[in-house]
Amino acid sequence: MSFAFSDIPDQSGKTAIVTGANTGIGFAIAEGLARKGARVLLACRDADKAREAQERLAAGHERVATEFLPLDLANIASIREAAERASQEDRIDILVNNAGVMMPPLSRAPGGSELQFAVNHLGHFAFTSLLLGKLAADGRARVVNQSSLAHRGAAIDFDNLDARKGYGRTKFYGQSKLANLLFTFEFDRRLRAANSPVVSLACHPGIAQTEITRHMGVFGNVFGSLVGTVLNTSEAGALPALQAATDPEAQGGDYFGPYGLREMSGRTSGRAIASKTAQDPLLAARLWEKSVELSGIDPGLAPAPSA
Ligand SMILES: NC(=O)c1ccc[n+]([C@@H]2O[C@H](COP(=O)([O-])OP(=O)(O)OC[C@H]3O[C@@H](n4cnc5c(N)ncnc54)[C@H](OP(=O)(O)O)[C@@H]3O)[C@@H](O)[C@H]2O)c1
Repeated sequence: MSFAFSDIPDQSGKTAIVTGANTGIGFAIAEGLARKGARVLLACRDADKAREAQERLAAGHERVATEFLPLDLANIASIREAAERASQEDRIDILVNNAGVMMPPLSRAPGGSELQFAVNHLGHFAFTSLLLGKLAADGRARVVNQSSLAHRGAAIDFDNLDARKGYGRTKFYGQSKLANLLFTFEFDRRLRAANSPVVSLACHPGIAQTEITRHMGVFGNVFGSLVGTVLNTSEAGALPALQAATDPEAQGGDYFGPYGLREMSGRTSGRAIASKTAQDPLLAARLWEKSVELSGIDPGLAPAPSA
């Protein structure tokens, strides 16, 4: 099931939302979808950056249709407003939950959760939940969650999601990316049990040169340029997400990543390996309940009978 850029089917008539679309992999995902004819809502927290991205996307491409959707994933009020606005769209066919923050100094979202858990997982859980009715009404809409190789070896520390008992930047990043996969698979199970037409999938970009290293200082800059040369560009890193969003053969619960160099890079994408922990249905169900409690938003999907 190897997938290349040339395999992306025509997306005319479709509407997609991409979070964190102003830069990095999110920008490349938005570009890939827009160039194939989709109308793309750039769900970003900074209006200037979003507008600049819209200009870059439009440059030289008459057909490109984009909108700015204000969204700060750390803030539940902003998430509610964005979901409300997005629900006014005629239809939503694709939601790519891509935005992310990596290894910042200890910080917390206004709701109290540690920032990486709050933005990378909880905000996307809430946004997706609020949009679920709209996504289901529009047929086989796809929800794609952006995970990472960093999910491997990670765990969820339910007693310390606010980092009051200690903080490790790398550990909390891995935790948030594991949460992305647990959510994807649990969402898939619950959607199927409810006979929902909505499809839940995941992807990861390998290791790609983007602004993700912004909290890593000088080391981050050097590492970033090395990555762009040796491993993936942000464009190549976008391919697994584009496969999850558009491959006609993709199914609910699929997880895609780059096909080369132990999933770190490659110009084609295909099935990726999820850790055993990421596939643990009991852990996923517990995370689901905790996410409902912390966000105050319940997608209203019952657990699958076997969970
Ligand atoms: N690059 C890699 O090697 C790599 C590897 C594995 C996984 N990933 C994942 O890929 C995704 C995209 O990362 P990237 O590498 O493209 O990084 P990036 O260049 O730093 O882009 C991150 C995007 O997320 C947005 N964002 C951050 N906090 C947000 C918030 N509170 N609300 C809304 N948007 C927010 C950023 O907006 P601002 O510009 O306004 O901050 C930016 O648009 C992330 O989920 C990351 O974990 C990346």
